[in-house]
Amino acid sequence: TNDQKKFLLDSIRDIPDFPKPGILFKDITTLLNNAEAFSLLMNHLEERYKEFNLDFIAGIESRGFIFGSALAAKLGIGFVPIRKKNKLPFTTISEKYALEYGVDEVEIHIDAFREKKGARVLLIDDLIATGGTAEAAAKLIKAANAECVEACFIINLTFLDGRKKLDELTSVYSILEIA
Ligand code: PRP
Ligand code: MG
Repeated sequence: TNDQKKFLLDSIRDIPDFPKPGILFKDITTLLNNAEAFSLLMNHLEERYKEFNLDFIAGIESRGFIFGSALAAKLGIGFVPIRKKNKLPFTTISEKYALEYGVDEVEIHIDAFREKKGARVLLIDDLIATGGTAEAAAKLIKAANAECVEACFIINLTFLDGRKKLDELTSVYSILEIA
């Protein structure tokens, strides 16, 4: 409901000029340490995704790990980390993506989805901004022989139109939109 959305939005703290001047940072630690807000959010995600017949949840480092692993445990399915480069110990697939200045890279284990070809995977992260990180992550899921059935974000900075980058890769769902 709109009241619940408002409650969740109000539980997120705005930090001006972090990590750089001019950036208004969305601090989700105040949602996580608010038991009522965190369970409201996780119960909503469980209700939505229990019907999706998912095999795995893939979370993007680092804040996507928090929501992704909590949801995977609720749904009784496995969790797969998509990490920043050089963090995963086994053989990886990597994908570069553009930052404001320069490039970064995310990786997935080559056998992340075990032996299951075409596994149904939900991608999750705390926030979509330009969409570059999520686009790279969705490509990794595909490269690891699985299907990214949806990309889910707690917050969508819609004014940056990041979901456009995911158009051809997967559908997009977000809980809170900031215009
Ligand atoms: C933030 C956020 C998303 C990403 C979104 O993560 O958590 O993962 O940026 O940006 P984009 O849509 O423009 O690609 P960040 O890279 O700051 O790392 P962190 O989650 O480890 O803090
Ligand atoms: Mg992140």
